[in-house]
Amino acid sequence: MKTIHVTASREYDVVIGAGLLDECGQRIAAAVPGAEKAVVYTDTTVFPLYAKRVTDSLKAAGFTVLQDYFLAGEHSKTFRNWERILRFFTENRVSRSDVVVALGGGVVGDMVGFAAACYQRGVRLVQIPTTLLAAVDSSVGGKTAVDLPAGKNLIGAFWQPSLVICDTDTLQTLPDAVRRDGCAEIIKYGVLDAALFSRLENSLPDEIPEDILARCVEIKRDIVAADEFDTGARHLLNLGHTAAHAAELLSDYSLSHGSAVAMGLCSMARACAARGLCTEEDAARIEALIKKCGLPTELPYTAEALANAALSDKKRAGSTLPIITVEALGRCTVRKIAASDYAGWLRQGGAK
Ligand code: GLY
Repeated sequence: MKTIHVTASREYDVVIGAGLLDECGQRIAAAVPGAEKAVVYTDTTVFPLYAKRVTDSLKAAGFTVLQDYFLAGEHSKTFRNWERILRFFTENRVSRSDVVVALGGGVVGDMVGFAAACYQRGVRLVQIPTTLLAAVDSSVGGKTAVDLPAGKNLIGAFWQPSLVICDTDTLQTLPDAVRRDGCAEIIKYGVLDAALFSRLENSLPDEIPEDILARCVEIKRDIVAADEFDTGARHLLNLGHTAAHAAELLSDYSLSHGSAVAMGLCSMARACAARGLCTEEDAARIEALIKKCGLPTELPYTAEALANAALSDKKRAGSTLPIITVEALGRCTVRKIAASDYAGWLRQGGAK
C-alpha cells in the first residue's frame, strides 16, 4: 500500500492499495472525526459493483449511511443533477459535520464534489475513485464542477477532499476503453517526468502497478502544492488538453476524455518537434507509447474548427491562450501564445 500526503488548503492522504474498499469505514472515521452520517453518492455503473461494500464498511465503523446514484455518463454532469444531490442532502438532514463519499469515476467525483463544496458552504468530502483516470487525476487536487451547455466544467469550486481511497482491485476489471482513457492521463504524467516515461514504455498498457499510480499522484501533488488555484504552474496538468477539450466539444462529448487527451498530446509533441522545441525522437516516443496503448494519435477535426472551439471556451481570458509545450521528456513549459496563432500550432501537430 502507498500513502501520498497532499498539502493544500486542506491536508489529506491519498491511499492506494488492494482491498481498501472493505476497510474504508475505519479510514474515513479517522479522517473526518465527529461525522455521524456518511452519504455515499455514486452512479448507475458503480452502484451495483461497489456501493454495498462501501456501505457495509461505513456501518461497521459506526456511521449512519445514506446512499443515492445518478445515471452514469458525462451527459449527467448537469446543474440539474447537482441540485438533485443537494436536495437529497437537505431531505436527509445532512449537516456540515457529516461526510459525503464520492464513489466512482471522474463525473461522480466532479459533481458530487461540487455538491459537497456548496452544501451549507462546504461539507467534508472523501473521494473513492474507481477508474484509472479518476485515480491518477480527478480525485486529487480539489477541482470540482458541473458542465453547462456552453462548455465543460464551467461552474465549479476548488474543494479539497479530506481523504482519497483508491482500491486498486477496482481498476483490474475496467472495460478496455475505460482503462485506455486512464492510460492517456498516465502518459501525460510521463511526459512531465522522464524517469516515469521510461518505465511506462516497458509496462503500459498491461501492467500498471501501485507505484506507477503513486508516482502520478505524487507529480500531481507537487504541482497542486505549488499552485492549488490554477493560476500558473498547475496549467502543466493540462498538457495536451487544449486541443483535447476542443475535440471533445466538437464531438458533443461522444469522444472520450482519454482519447482526446491522447490526440492532444501527440499533436502538441509533433508541433513542438516541428518548431525545434523538442527532438523528433521525443515526439516519436510519445506517439509510439500512445499507439501501444491502443489510443488514437490524430485529431479528427480541422485546425480551424479546433482553434475556434478552443477559443470559444468561456473560461478563456483575453486574446492570449496558455499552451503547454514539450521541450524534452520531463521538461514542459506553460507559454502564453496569441490566440490567433493557435491554428498554426494545430496544423504543425498534423491537423488539416
Ligand atoms: N486535471 C487538471 C487539474 O487538476 O488541474
